[in-house]
Amino acid sequence: MLEAKQVTKVYRTGAGCLTVLDRVSLRVEPGASVAITGPSGAGKSTLLHLLGGLDLPTSGEVAWDGVSLGRMGERQRCAFRNRTVGIVFQFYHLLPELTAEENVLLPARVGGQGGGRRLHERARACLDQVGLSRRGGHKPSQLSGGEQQRVAIARAVFNDPQVLLCDEPTGNLDSATGAAVTELLFALQRQRRVSLVLVTHEADLARQAERTILLRDGRIVEDGASRTTRGREAQREGVR
Ligand SMILES: Nc1ncnc2c1ncn2[C@@H]1O[C@H](COP(=O)(O)OP(=O)(O)O)[C@@H](O)[C@H]1O
Ligand SMILES: [Mg+2]
Repeated sequence: MLEAKQVTKVYRTGAGCLTVLDRVSLRVEPGASVAITGPSGAGKSTLLHLLGGLDLPTSGEVAWDGVSLGRMGERQRCAFRNRTVGIVFQFYHLLPELTAEENVLLPARVGGQGGGRRLHERARACLDQVGLSRRGGHKPSQLSGGEQQRVAIARAVFNDPQVLLCDEPTGNLDSATGAAVTELLFALQRQRRVSLVLVTHEADLARQAERTILLRDGRIVEDGASRTTRGREAQREGVR
């Protein structure tokens, strides 16, 4: 289980100290879906980056199965980032010179697994799962925004993570494309039984998660179960 305990993040800038997160505590239960909402600047991306081990808190801790990321060695933390979590960003962050399939394979390269035939097959299976089986040879510039985000999602699930962290995954997409990407994320959550943490300021997206957290000025001001059909169904199916 992924857990933030009393997490505080302070940035030191020329103008002084800025407390971006203030003693935030959050447990992400296995298989749960959690939406993090709140106004721009509330600290949503900062929290997601801390949950993904991309950065460490100033105080407090983020722990995976009880082990604090801050106490892990560099190798262990790299393995956590590479295998335990998958991260999807608003602007896809694909490497432009690589094909879709090579982008999906990146976690294998970064993790030192190389690029053998089995890994290529796995990359193609991931592309197939996001509906892009015929786009593996395309470069990002040859793909639409929605397709690029699907490639990024395929890359995020390549190593079969236990938690999928998404930072405004539909923020750069038109509403129809965004709805399809949302549908895909929740389908993957069910099929792969991963936990899904979604940062969004789109109410439609947030409502589909079982639980919604409202962040304001670096603090959790609301934390509640979703009352939507999807949220209730998910709970009844025992997805969590
Ligand atoms: N590296 C940084 N140095 C200084 N301030 C930062 C840094 N990163 C983010 N901030 C500030 O932290 C606040 C929260 O940022 P962020 O987590 O990106 O908010 P959100 O994703 O909710 O819009 C903002 O005021 C932002 O300017
Ligand atoms: Mg943000």
